[in-house]
Amino acid sequence: MSCDSVVVFVVLVSTVSCQNLTFPDWFMFGAATSSYQIEGGWNASDKGESTWDRALHTHPEIVGDGSNGDVACDSYHLWRRDVEMCAELGLDMYRFSISWPRLLPTGFSNKISEDGKNYYSNLIDGLLEKGIEPVVTMYHWDLPQYLQDLGGWANPLISDWFADYASVVYYLYADRVKYWITFNEPIVTCDSGYTKQSTPYLDDLNTGGFLCNKNLLMAHAKAYRIYEEEYKLKYNGKISLANIFVWFEPETPDDANVTELMFQLYEGRFAHPIYLGGWPPELEKVLAENGKREGYKYPRLPPFTPEEVEFVRGTADYYALNHYITRQIRQVGPGEAGSWPFYGSNEIGATMLNDPSWTPTFIDWFTLNPKALRTQLHWINDTYGVNEVMVTENGLPLLSRDLYDVERMECIRDHLEQILLAINDGIHVIGYTAWSLLDNFEWAAGYASTFGLYAVNFTDPQRTRTPRESARYYSSVTRTRSLLPRKTDLNYE
Ligand SMILES: *[C@@H]1O[C@H](CO)[C@@H](O)[C@H](O)[C@H]1NC(C)=O
Ligand SMILES: *[C@@H]1O[C@H](CO)[C@@H](O)[C@H](O)[C@H]1NC(C)=O
Ligand SMILES: *[C@@H]1O[C@H](CO)[C@@H](O)[C@H](O)[C@H]1NC(C)=O
Ligand SMILES: *[C@@H]1O[C@H](CO)[C@@H](O)[C@H](O)[C@H]1NC(C)=O
Ligand SMILES: *[C@@H]1O[C@H](CO)[C@@H](O)[C@H](O)[C@H]1NC(C)=O
Repeated sequence: MSCDSVVVFVVLVSTVSCQNLTFPDWFMFGAATSSYQIEGGWNASDKGESTWDRALHTHPEIVGDGSNGDVACDSYHLWRRDVEMCAELGLDMYRFSISWPRLLPTGFSNKISEDGKNYYSNLIDGLLEKGIEPVVTMYHWDLPQYLQDLGGWANPLISDWFADYASVVYYLYADRVKYWITFNEPIVTCDSGYTKQSTPYLDDLNTGGFLCNKNLLMAHAKAYRIYEEEYKLKYNGKISLANIFVWFEPETPDDANVTELMFQLYEGRFAHPIYLGGWPPELEKVLAENGKREGYKYPRLPPFTPEEVEFVRGTADYYALNHYITRQIRQVGPGEAGSWPFYGSNEIGATMLNDPSWTPTFIDWFTLNPKALRTQLHWINDTYGVNEVMVTENGLPLLSRDLYDVERMECIRDHLEQILLAINDGIHVIGYTAWSLLDNFEWAAGYASTFGLYAVNFTDPQRTRTPRESARYYSSVTRTRSLLPRKTDLNYE
């Protein structure tokens, strides 16, 4: 049925709508990975130890199956196969991260690893040879252990150490990389890291997590300003920071205010300073009152000086958004919100639930509601006035290692459909990045859950990669640059 004939029948078949299923020429299709999750080679050449190496070597019980990323997908040796897979998928871009301790073994810029430098240089060249744009994340959670020993993200000096690292990265790769992401999901570094869910596995969100919040934003801004001053004119690349953005819906109209605070807690703490300037005012006030009541001399969120507000404001060229899930918010009394994955929700008296209409997965807090992505893209435009957004992660975890992963295929399709609707609404969404290119080390879940378009055989020393059904589907989308009408979805060959 052609689009025109759908219009004719629309009165009879009211559920069929005539929607333009073709992506604009400039839209980029991608897939993503991160260094610790795929590279392995944890002690190859002169690589320094990362916080993840240390944590999982000393506390293997952190991970359900006792595994770690020592070898992972062995992409340190098998990166050529990864590039080939990107080409098989017909990708326009590949998002990967640089391991700070692989490039700078001491954590400082006094010594650049020759092998580390060449590893990322070869990967970038390999992608460009296939016409694939590298999208480079500078920090995806693997901090040099020595910098952690010096206080890590709670030490304000780290913003200079990160800026030095960023300078080296630009110096080596800015001639070939146009899309940069300083930090992946900073809420994980700060909140998960200070609620014993991620390195440094401390339990001190009241102070450490909020110090991290400010220091990390200063690090981001310094890295942005260096590029702006030294490279922007010459290479005209774009820099952002990728927030994990949970969409929140109030359970009842009475929960609307606490839901708004929840957005500020999750999103605003890492976006408001960059896009609007300073902390989200209402949240800053609530957190300051909580700290004062508990006898702290300093406010939870360390204040920015007026100079710092201006320094951090305007340090993103596009909005990078990792979208997976939606949660429902209910207002509760102080201390009743529970623990992870609620982070600081006790602070504002919010608890999270699921709406039964959303699609459940094997993880109780991971429920799919693709329509939220379109709403969220509008929210970002309206709240932060951002005219370019890239969806830098989206995907589905499954327990099955099966190659026939229809649920993952549908997840990708349903989210791409919402992106198309948002584009047709006038939101400038420049790309979509599926998480993940291949099965990998999924942090505390080890190798038990799979996210890959390609399956990886982790018992095989060769770490053989095999395309799943979702890979075949995604490559049909990138080939035709369009989604097929829903009814014929499964007949894409
Ligand atoms: C559908 O959208 C694409 C990309 O924006 C555009 O090039 C094409 O002309 C549109 N087709 C129709 C029939 O509107
Ligand atoms: C690297 O680590 C492995 C264990 O993952 C160990 O067997 C090997 O000896 C180490 N190599 C060096 C050079 O330390
Ligand atoms: C929500 O906030 C508004 C404005 O701050 C206030 O007038 C209203 O009473 C609040 N509603 C609830 C249910 O607390
Ligand atoms: C995006 O935001 C701008 C400014 O806030 C607004 O004028 C515009 O209508 C919004 N775009 C869409 C598609 O809603
Ligand atoms: C994984 O690799 C091992 C070792 O090569 C092999 O015995 C096994 O059959 C492979 N599993 C799958 C599902 O291909």
